[in-house]
Amino acid sequence: MEKYSFPKGFVWGAASSSYQIEGTTAGDGRGRSIWDDMCDEPGRIADGSNGLVACRHTELWPRDVELLSELGAQAYRFSIAWPRVLPTGRGSVNEKGFDFYKKLIDGLLAKGITPWATLYHWDLPSSLEKEGGWRHRDTAYAFADYAELCTKRLGDRVKHWITHNEPWCVAVLGHRTGEHAPGIKDPAAAVRASHHVLLSHGLAVPRIRAAASPGSQVGITLNLNPAYPANPTRASDVEQARIYDGDFNRWYLDPIFKGSYPHDMIDHYAKEGSVIKGGGLVHPGDLEIIRAPIDFLGVNFYSRAVLGERGPAEEARKKDPDAYTDMGWEIYPQGLSDLMLRLNRDYPAKAYYITENGASYDDQVDSRGEVHDPKRERYFVRHLAEVAKLCAKGVPMAGYFAWSIMDNFEWAHGYRRRFGIAYVDYQTQKRTPKTSFKRLANIMKSNQLEVE
Ligand code: FCB
Repeated sequence: MEKYSFPKGFVWGAASSSYQIEGTTAGDGRGRSIWDDMCDEPGRIADGSNGLVACRHTELWPRDVELLSELGAQAYRFSIAWPRVLPTGRGSVNEKGFDFYKKLIDGLLAKGITPWATLYHWDLPSSLEKEGGWRHRDTAYAFADYAELCTKRLGDRVKHWITHNEPWCVAVLGHRTGEHAPGIKDPAAAVRASHHVLLSHGLAVPRIRAAASPGSQVGITLNLNPAYPANPTRASDVEQARIYDGDFNRWYLDPIFKGSYPHDMIDHYAKEGSVIKGGGLVHPGDLEIIRAPIDFLGVNFYSRAVLGERGPAEEARKKDPDAYTDMGWEIYPQGLSDLMLRLNRDYPAKAYYITENGASYDDQVDSRGEVHDPKRERYFVRHLAEVAKLCAKGVPMAGYFAWSIMDNFEWAHGYRRRFGIAYVDYQTQKRTPKTSFKRLANIMKSNQLEVE
């Protein structure tokens, strides 16, 4: 048995996002988002579903706040749906939208749970998409206006702000592979989108700071994936890992922390026809804007990437239940340590928070109405052991948010993937804490971890 403890003041929480849980109700005034549009297109979502009902969180939020309280969460990371407060992305405000977030936040505060608000978790107002969405520079300015509005309206209650969730997904899944909304398959559009998302972050940071209450914290959440060559002595594997790392990690970390895009990736994208330098995309001063100082970096960690041929041993290992999750993502907790040590060396931040970490499995409710999810439990425990080791090594790991507080709409997979620590029965909307929830509750309440 190994025992770990976490530093005093370490923040424990759970996360969710607007489109994945909220649902809409008649007359709530929420405008359409690109995910509503995506879901309307046949064949886009694995089970043909959408987020119109989801977890009915806008009605059932008191139960969900209760759930967070049962977990012992000190913080809750949720996102504000841009089209819920600004139905067409700019201009007239939907007061009912802000009323909902105020009620939710007051409910959290009443239970001693600190709200952490993400301003963009992928539900861009459709009206802005019609103008070119993230491919269009104006969207960055619209985002900064929206960020300031949210801070003015909610900044008396919210003191932790995350501008964006996972810009890589917005750029690449949204515009290169087309798996996510707006479903575009154009590498040049992905590069444009990435720059405008980063610019919008940089524009928003000072606007949030100016409107926020004193002592508020502003940061961004990146999904980072450490890349390893399958064979470190094979030049082509090493080269592929460099490009993967450049595209996934450095393309976002470098501008935010260093105020520059990585040169090797500028050349790489140029081969695909994306002109970064002198192409009119990056205006003078943009990189200075993007480098706006942040108070913390949020890291979403799920897996790693191995580039090149891994061979038959890996195929055999796939039978090990602790090797891959149901998403097909390799479980590699060591990757979290490798990643964070590198960040602390090359991209030092005042504080790092794991803003998402979790696993999808095909959970079942048993005859006693319980949900036993030992594989998810092991996933959490093994990753938390790495977090504890990083704390002991002096990496400023300041908190951990489990993904997700409950099962929800998993984007292109629809409701077929369950990431929750509470099971959601979508017929009855009943939430059942899984055994992983109970395990996390013990860890969160004791600030200690025991690994068997
Ligand atoms: C992340 C997203 C989150 C959820 C998890 C599984 O990329 O931020 O919304 O889909 O993956």
